[in-house]
Amino acid sequence: MNIYAKLLLLCSIGVAFIAVRWSATSFNEESLKGARVLVTGASTGIGEQLAYQYARLGAQLVITARRGNVLEEVVRKCKEMGAQKAFFIPADMASPPDAERVVQYAIEQLGGLDFLVLNHIGPSPYSMWNGDVEHTRWLLQVNFLSYLQMAQKALPTLEKSKGSIVVVSSLLGKICGPFTLPYAATKFALNGFFGGLQHELAMQKSNVSITICILGLIDTDSAMEKIKGYINMTAYPAHESARHIVEAGASRQPEAFYPWYTFYACLFRDWFPYFRDLAIQNSYTYNP
Ligand SMILES: NC(=O)c1ccc[n+]([C@@H]2O[C@H](COP(=O)([O-])OP(=O)(O)OC[C@H]3O[C@@H](n4cnc5c(N)ncnc54)[C@H](OP(=O)(O)O)[C@@H]3O)[C@@H](O)[C@H]2O)c1
Ligand SMILES: *[C@@H]1O[C@H](CO)[C@@H](O)[C@H](O)[C@H]1NC(C)=O
Ligand SMILES: *[C@@H]1O[C@H](CO)[C@@H](O)[C@H](O)[C@H]1NC(C)=O
Repeated sequence: MNIYAKLLLLCSIGVAFIAVRWSATSFNEESLKGARVLVTGASTGIGEQLAYQYARLGAQLVITARRGNVLEEVVRKCKEMGAQKAFFIPADMASPPDAERVVQYAIEQLGGLDFLVLNHIGPSPYSMWNGDVEHTRWLLQVNFLSYLQMAQKALPTLEKSKGSIVVVSSLLGKICGPFTLPYAATKFALNGFFGGLQHELAMQKSNVSITICILGLIDTDSAMEKIKGYINMTAYPAHESARHIVEAGASRQPEAFYPWYTFYACLFRDWFPYFRDLAIQNSYTYNP
């Protein structure tokens, strides 16, 4: 195919996708009143904002992360904002028994589960790969294997409630970039696993929906701290990203993109690989 044919095809596909995307979003906020929701990584950042979004809509919440004292404060705010119930459970996802204990706790406290929102990530350096394999092994447990454990533990309950699993992933799980190799590997793994699980559940006529959320740069403290001096790009607000995630999960979208450019980045990804890689490498500052 010559380049003009490619461009024309690309434009048509783009227009078709936009049409589908805007027509597909239907979301009744009332539907989340009383919904039983477990949010991980909810002590700060996007997870904290997710908790507030569900609280605002009158959900019943269990939130988790490692720091109990911080979670306690988030729970207090959730109750103020309208959560029917709000509980917290401190847990470290680096420890496999903790991942299962959290789901068990949520099912017991809420009498079942409608939404399992998997969002936590372990801290990872923002720098060129230093050859540390052990860190990647550890991060795979925190960012990836714990997600599988929690999904496995929650699936029977979600099957009964016609519930949903929401996986917070990243554009860095779709397109390769420098400085975050272990992190990106865990996000590619998540997209691969839960994308495949979507097929298997559909083939089994399962009642459970899976929403994979592809996020671009969001203005959480941890992200802003990391990228400082490396890349100068617009970060989108965490509360807006949380609103999109909640909406995508509730309307059972298989894949959700925020902000808008992530959708086009994924669409264009393999069309002009040479220019893509040039653009990626030139957008970072690197001073060895
Ligand atoms: N911010 C962005 O630019 C961006 C872009 C794309 C995708 N995302 C995705 O969005 C999600 C949230 O990102 P974020 O920026 O909000 O992250 P964040 O601010 O760093 O928050 C991470 C959360 O995970 C918890 N956590 C860390 N280690 C843990 C462990 N070992 N066990 C259990 N919980 C742990 C933290 O709480 P404790 O420290 O209390 O444990 C915190 O609540 C992630 O999945 C991330 O990949 C973010
Ligand atoms: C879906 O839910 C219905 C009850 O609402 C149940 O009968 C059916 O077995 C469930 N499907 C699966 C695959 O478990
Ligand atoms: C980042 O980019 C904006 C405009 O694109 C510019 O105004 C600003 O000075 C840049 N900041 C740094 C630190 O380079």
